[in-house]
Amino acid sequence: MSTIKIAIDGPAGAGKSTIAKIVAKQLGFIYIDTGAMYRAVALKAIKNNIDTKDTDKVCSILHDLDIDIKYDNNGQVVFLDGQDVTQEIRTPEVSIGASNVAAIPEVRIKLVELQRKLAASNNVIMDGRDIGTYVLPDADIKIFLTASVEDRAKRRYEEMIAKNSFCSLEEVKKDIEYRDKNDSSRAFAPLKIAEDAVVIDTTGNELEESLNIVLQLIKERLQ
Ligand code: DC
Repeated sequence: MSTIKIAIDGPAGAGKSTIAKIVAKQLGFIYIDTGAMYRAVALKAIKNNIDTKDTDKVCSILHDLDIDIKYDNNGQVVFLDGQDVTQEIRTPEVSIGASNVAAIPEVRIKLVELQRKLAASNNVIMDGRDIGTYVLPDADIKIFLTASVEDRAKRRYEEMIAKNSFCSLEEVKKDIEYRDKNDSSRAFAPLKIAEDAVVIDTTGNELEESLNIVLQLIKERLQ
């Protein structure tokens, strides 16, 4: 049986995961946050005192890497080597580390295998950087969600403050700029717009507006 696949790509803070989660719930699809997988690899490297830019050392932890994604009423739960790391992977250090390990082809090949397996047996909405271009090139709908760096930094900052994380807007903006550059310039499966993607710029939008645009597009395409 063939499954329905929706790809949402775009830079950090564009609203991909917030929108994808809501859409998945409405459609009864599984939401797959591929960034969480890169974050889990980065966390494992950090826990082993490995520099996330050190290709050889990062590759040395891949052979026994055990990442599992499960779903409960609150959404996705990420397990690394049997431990729930759902919260731990959300720190600024892990964000930068994830962008670094994501530039290593061996890491991507390993995680893409898991992502494709999940999409083969479920109707999915998957978000990331290379879903429409590399992971699921045959996706039924491809969306590229973007916004100005100022807007994205502001949203991320507000999210972090709401979770009682201490950070400054300037730090969050720097983190996003670093990752934008790193994620777009890597050689293997970089962040870029798929030729057949619909680009949605959410600059200045309230979440509700962007969500409605995405929902409308998906409804039209799935008819
Ligand atoms: O979506 P996120 O911010 O949680 O992703 C963290 C990092 O992981 C991001 O900066 C780049 C990398 N990533 C990637 O290279 N490819 C993906 N499909 C998802 C994330």
